[in-house]
Amino acid sequence: MKLEGKVVLVTGGGTGMGRAMSQRFAREGAGVVVNYARSQRQATEVVDAITKEGGRAIAIQADLTSDQEARRLISETIAHYGRLDVLVNNAGWTRSVPHQDLEGLTDEILEQTLAVNVKAPLYCIRAAAPYLRANGAGAVINITSGAAYTASGSSLIYAAAKAALSSLTKSLARVLAPEVRVNAIAPGFVDTGFVNWSPATLARLRQPGRLGRAITAEDIADAAIFLACDAGATTGQTILVDQGNVALGPHP
Ligand SMILES: NC(=O)c1ccc[n+]([C@@H]2O[C@H](COP(=O)([O-])OP(=O)(O)OC[C@H]3O[C@@H](n4cnc5c(N)ncnc54)[C@H](OP(=O)(O)O)[C@@H]3O)[C@@H](O)[C@H]2O)c1
Repeated sequence: MKLEGKVVLVTGGGTGMGRAMSQRFAREGAGVVVNYARSQRQATEVVDAITKEGGRAIAIQADLTSDQEARRLISETIAHYGRLDVLVNNAGWTRSVPHQDLEGLTDEILEQTLAVNVKAPLYCIRAAAPYLRANGAGAVINITSGAAYTASGSSLIYAAAKAALSSLTKSLARVLAPEVRVNAIAPGFVDTGFVNWSPATLARLRQPGRLGRAITAEDIADAAIFLACDAGATTGQTILVDQGNVALGPHP
């Protein structure tokens, strides 16, 4: 086990990729904090599943669009486990708005997209930094998106928000070195129900990609384990887990 005695916090850890990462980190021996905003039932299920396998996990509710809530999440993590080694900024939010529909980008959508995808990870990193630094080998993993590179995806503000998170990944990698490595994972489409896609778009996205398969939440968890445990000389980087779409162009 690679994370025996370590503590990992996964924001939005009760659903989708967050769930897969919470479970994988627990299997590596970490004590896990499963953060949720609204999905209490799912977060509790993840904690129960981890506990049943002999792992350690707790669920903590916090709406991370609030700096105060993010600071409380970190303090409750420290109060429970006494340390924090890995922070996974996985929580995200979007609404599907066609890019040409500029008027469809209401203030509410603009604000919530930027608040969850950009401000929340920054709030969490800022509050966690002293604890991540204290252990001398902390790691932050930000979940961005292939949309940050292609400026496509569910809305143009979502693509811009994930591009901002890519930029923060690099700035914070510089700021928090040498004690903390800051990296990102940019997934392609994963069928988690994250976006309110139309049935036609969903059918297209569900077609097998260049590697003849779908990208799964477990693929993202594999990349997270690599960045948290094995990538000791890597910081300021993004791993694209997208079947080569950004590097090679979309699969026909
Ligand atoms: N699925 C894809 O195709 C895809 C592709 C590229 C990138 N991503 C990114 O992958 C990450 C995980 O998404 P997913 O696909 O696994 O979808 P998901 O299951 O819907 O996960 C989103 C998570 O974000 C949490 N969240 C939203 N607002 C929050 C807030 N204010 N405070 C705290 N947590 C909040 C949600 O928790 P609650 O339910 O408790 O609110 C939920 O657990 C996101 O950052 C997303 O942008 C997804």
